[in-house]
Amino acid sequence: MQKRIFSGIQPSGVLHLGNYLGAIKNWVALQEKYDPIFCVVDLHAITVPQKPEELRQKTLEVAKTYLAAGIDPEKSLIFVQSHVPEHAELAWILNTITKIPELERMTQFKDKSKAFRQNLNAGLFNYPVLMAADILLYDANLVPVGEDQLQHVEIARTLARRFNSLFGETFVVPEPFVVKEGMRIMGLDDPKKKMSKSAASEYNYISLTDTPEKIREKIKKAVTDSGKEIRYSADKPAIKNLINIYALLDNAKPKEIVESYHGKGYAEFKKDLAEVVVGFLEPFQEKYNEIEDREVLRILEEGKSKAKKMAGEKMEKVREKVGLL
Ligand code: TYM
Repeated sequence: MQKRIFSGIQPSGVLHLGNYLGAIKNWVALQEKYDPIFCVVDLHAITVPQKPEELRQKTLEVAKTYLAAGIDPEKSLIFVQSHVPEHAELAWILNTITKIPELERMTQFKDKSKAFRQNLNAGLFNYPVLMAADILLYDANLVPVGEDQLQHVEIARTLARRFNSLFGETFVVPEPFVVKEGMRIMGLDDPKKKMSKSAASEYNYISLTDTPEKIREKIKKAVTDSGKEIRYSADKPAIKNLINIYALLDNAKPKEIVESYHGKGYAEFKKDLAEVVVGFLEPFQEKYNEIEDREVLRILEEGKSKAKKMAGEKMEKVREKVGLL
């Protein structure tokens, strides 16, 4: 049997190069060899306040982004999390075997509880349990994500093992999948923090919808390190991050990029990098604009019925194991 992969993105805020290089780019490659499922996780998105009309729109946009980036609906199952209520049902059951200190330790929860002090809802706290349910429902072997999600995949592993030992073999214990250069793309305005859709300044990220002019401006303004050399090293975090972006989009190794800029300066490097990013995003955006909403809705509807069937079968087993009549 082919190994299965599962991953998802929240429809909250703009998608940026970090999301693409940390996650979607790997999905596109992995869909060739694995049995892939990609979800738009709208139930996760509502753990912070969302405007209902915007949420619906963004859910559609994220699915469209998957398609424009090269996720092929003939090979991959694409669906919306809330269309399959079994995710919430399994999350509830998993909540009953999750220990509170395990969730209190989550870095993302600690960060978000600082940012959302006024709306510290229980959903934000239980967020990793819903993510575990997403993964375990489909017996995923591999979960391709960025570094910030590794702790959550670890919880999914813990819960799979715990459930199996309490109720008998039920869930596959999933493995995370990351690519070193892309797992943590840093902010262009601050290479100590990851590129983030909730960053205060738009100069932190390159959105997948940015215009060529905007991209050139953002890369020109990106902070650099002291010195002049293009070197790939931990003591040059800003330039290292830009080399990673360059290498991943150009399908090259960081070493090759460094060699080709030997003796050249930051300005030339940045100018070329901007063209590499524009060269990637222009055709992506063209494709994105060509895809009609109708077509996305049709694909999501098809995904919904396939995912429902799989999740339904799994939940029957889970209910029986737990002792629900
Ligand atoms: P989300 O929506 O915050 O991010 C989507 C994906 O993008 C990755 N990512 C990054 N990778 C590299 N550098 C960055 N700066 C960067 N920023 C974001 C994230 O690691 C992620 O892979 N909880 C998840 C969504 C989720 C999920 C799941 C993922 C829900 N259920 C089941 C996998 C399996 C999240 O909030 O990702």
